[in-house]
Amino acid sequence: MASSKTPSPSHAHAAQLVAARASKGITGARAICFFNNKGGVGKTTLVANLAAQLSLNLGLRILVVDADPQCNLTQYVLSDSEFDSTYGDLSASGTIYDVIHPLSIGKGYSKELPIRKIKKFGFDAIIGDPRLALKEDLLAQDWRDAKAGGTRGLRTTFLFSNLIERAAQDYDFIFFDMGPSLGAINRSILLSADHFVVPMSIDIFSLWAIKNIGQALNVWQGELANGIRLAEDPSELPKNRLKDKKLGFLGYVTQQHKEKSENKVTRVVEAYNTIKSKLPQAVASVLKGYFPSPSFNPHLGDIKHLASLAPKSQTLHTPMITVTLKGSYTLTRSQARQIYESIAERFFENLAALEYKQRSARN
Ligand SMILES: Nc1ncnc2c1ncn2[C@@H]1O[C@H](COP(=O)(O)OP(=O)(O)O)[C@@H](O)[C@H]1O
Ligand SMILES: [Mg+2]
Repeated sequence: MASSKTPSPSHAHAAQLVAARASKGITGARAICFFNNKGGVGKTTLVANLAAQLSLNLGLRILVVDADPQCNLTQYVLSDSEFDSTYGDLSASGTIYDVIHPLSIGKGYSKELPIRKIKKFGFDAIIGDPRLALKEDLLAQDWRDAKAGGTRGLRTTFLFSNLIERAAQDYDFIFFDMGPSLGAINRSILLSADHFVVPMSIDIFSLWAIKNIGQALNVWQGELANGIRLAEDPSELPKNRLKDKKLGFLGYVTQQHKEKSENKVTRVVEAYNTIKSKLPQAVASVLKGYFPSPSFNPHLGDIKHLASLAPKSQTLHTPMITVTLKGSYTLTRSQARQIYESIAERFFENLAALEYKQRSARN
């Protein structure tokens, strides 16, 4: 697909990024988590479709981890028969549960990562598992120990750092889709990732959610830094955590949630615009400390309501950019292609800005 088209700006950017890294001897994936403690804001759809854009169209190697016990991403990307055969009985194997379970019974990190290919989306995945919710308590308990520098607590908290470290050499990016909570699983992912993206809907609840995210991150990063300082056994820390790593904010994506019917269009647009105009200020007031420069533009793009293309792509288990149906889908598919192309382009711009800042801070 990629080879038949004129290279797009994001192609050029992706190639530059890979080349710039290689020239500095930097290898290994960047771990990006997509997080908002508010649900239904388009996280899963964004993760699956952006990952598909980067892998199918830009040739990047992507691993997607479904870390939401609701497993919506898994349901989206697996065929109905794959889904049924995996979750047909309660002892499903080859899921994220295999990563966390050995640790919870004191056997340390899992031996193999249960990675599988998702052909239609072009990426690899570690699929989700409803039983992940049962491990929330383990992570919560061990967090107390981690804050005090306890070996067991840090090992549990760094479960996802360990996963990233082991998969890093095989991928350009590792994406995490997450459930909508500020709970222990999500804390552990946020503290392990390199950067985060906040998908948000244009409503007042998102203004509130962004505040919660900012506050929680500040507290957790402070507590973890303390735990690392006090670590009983620093050799237990994953290698990618030895440096005092700070999570980078790659930006936010807005999502127009409701379809705008013609007769309601003026009122809806007015209401959206009022909230939309407040978002940049709300994001900056909470997350400015994460901006790599004062001119950083965290808005990665706006995803319009793509009508029935979204549910259609779910039932076909196919990314929106490759749904082949004609009729009204021709227009929405082409809109989806433009949207994801443009988000990918902004994603690389912001990634470059963040990593430039992080490198100069280190030197
Ligand atoms: N661009 C879009 N156009 C239309 N519907 C969408 C779009 N993005 C997401 N949706 C729908 O909105 C609902 C919530 O999206 P989802 O990605 O599951 O959000 P989250 O993961 O934040 O809960 C889903 O039913 C999805 O099909
Ligand atoms: Mg979701």
